[in-house]
This record gives sequence, structure tokens and C-alpha cells, in this order.
Amino acid sequence: PLVSMKDMLIKAVEGKYAVGQFNINNLEFTQAILQAAQEENSPVILGVSEGAAKYIGGFKTVVAIIRSLIEDYNITVPVAIHLDHGSSFEMCVKAIDAGFTSVMIDGSHFPLEENIALTKKVVDVAHTLGVSVEAELGRIGGQEDDLVVDDADAAYAIPAECEQLVRETKVDCFAPALGSVHGPYKGEPNLGFDRMEEVQKLTGVPLVLHGGTGIPTKDIQRAISLGTAKINVNTESQMSSAATVRKVLQEKPDLYDPRKYLGPARDTIKETVKGKMREFGSSNQA
Ligand code: G3H
Ligand code: ZN
Repeated sequence: PLVSMKDMLIKAVEGKYAVGQFNINNLEFTQAILQAAQEENSPVILGVSEGAAKYIGGFKTVVAIIRSLIEDYNITVPVAIHLDHGSSFEMCVKAIDAGFTSVMIDGSHFPLEENIALTKKVVDVAHTLGVSVEAELGRIGGQEDDLVVDDADAAYAIPAECEQLVRETKVDCFAPALGSVHGPYKGEPNLGFDRMEEVQKLTGVPLVLHGGTGIPTKDIQRAISLGTAKINVNTESQMSSAATVRKVLQEKPDLYDPRKYLGPARDTIKETVKGKMREFGSSNQA
């Protein structure tokens, strides 16, 4: 069923695992992620960036596709439709109005007080409607869709500011930027685990780890042990599916039916997502 992230993440903290947010890019991603969740008996968060929503048709199309697939595939595990890196109050309201069960308001590029005011405004509307909210502080480096943050602008979250933001906004979960990066890592990721622990203690809410692609299992496990209950993955599914499309088309240059290269790509996404669910410990937690 469609649910918000709230209970999912509280359960995850208690059970010491993380729920994956897997970003959808098109129909095949949506199919693959839902099937993976059902087969793994895992709760799942479908991440929808504004760019992906636009590509697919709009917020309403996204919701209609997900609702229909839940019916047609007989999906019984908990599913949240989550706006990823919402850029404004208006976008969040539009997504909620279309049927999203969760939103992220990314005010991380604003000064603290402005970020808090914006996030609070979104929380006030969302919580009235049972929709969960995620906020970000500090700046996550790298690139996701149109969101590009240069190395020089990437910034670690300051624990005292995190405490203030969470206390004043009452968000359901919180993403402190602590060295993770959108897209592939240049070398090994260097996550700020000491701060993660401090932020968890000060805020008391489930933490979110963005840039889940390319983080070694030991770091994933350490993050989960320090209160990370949601891990976002996009690039890894994109890369694995693109590799499959390349392989199929190279092997069969005469092939033109999209189902014959997108079908195998969809299988690859499903396997990638299932692997992550096992790694995050969310399998059999639905
Ligand atoms: O918000 C989405 C993510 O943080 C995805 O990051 O593309 O590096 O896996 P990734
Ligand atoms: Zn992100």
C-alpha cells in the first residue's frame, strides 16, 4: 500500500536497518523497483526528482503509474512516493496535491534561518495531510539531474544547526551532508561518522544518507549503526542498466524493438535494487 515514510523509518531505526530510496527515471525503473521490493518483502521509497517527474510527464503521471503498478503487480509491501530534493514550497505542494506521500524540501543552499522557515512551511502543510517531510543541511556535492554542487560549495552540516532545524521544523527525517556525494565517488568516500553520531544524538530523528552509490558495505553498516534509516540510490541503477543496454545492442546490432533492450535493462535494475535491499537489511522487513 501507499504510505508516508514516517512509520517505515521509525521501524527501521528500531530494527537497525535502512530503507532504500531508489530513484525512478522512467517506467522500467518504476516496474523494476516495485518488483524488487515485493520479491524481497521489503518496504521501499520511490524517489522522484523534479527532473524525472518532468521527463515522465508530471507529478500526476508519476502517481498514476505507481498506483496502477501496485494494483497490476499485486504489490503488498509498504511503498512511499517521495519528492527528491524538492526545490520550493510550491513544488512540494504540487507533489502532495498529485498524491505523493512524502516530500524532501532541499533548502540546503539557503542560510540556516531561511532553510528553517521554508522547511517549517512545508511541514505545516504536509503533516496536516499525513505526508512525511525530509530536510537537508550542509551541501551534498556532485550532480543529480539539474542539481550541481561544486566541490568548493559542498559543505559539512554543523551539528548544533542540525539540532535547531529539526527541533524548530519537526521534520520526520533529516539529511545532514557529511561527505557523501551524488554520482560516482572520486576515490573512497570519506564520511563524517563522528558528526553523524553527534547529529543523531542531538536530533533524535532517522537520518538519511544521500549519494548511496559507491559507498562500501562497511560504511553502510556503520552509518546504519549510527541511526541512518534511509539510503538514497540512483546512479548505481542508472549505470548498471545502461551497461546492459550497451551490451545487448552491441551483441545484436540489428535489434530495434525497445522491449528487447529495455526489458533486460529492467531486469538489471531489479537485481541491483535487490542487492541493495539485502545490503541495507530491509529484506523481509515489510
Ligand atoms: O537523492 C538521490 C540520491 O542521493 C542518489 O545518489 O545517484 O549518488 O546514488 P546517487
Ligand atoms: Zn540526494
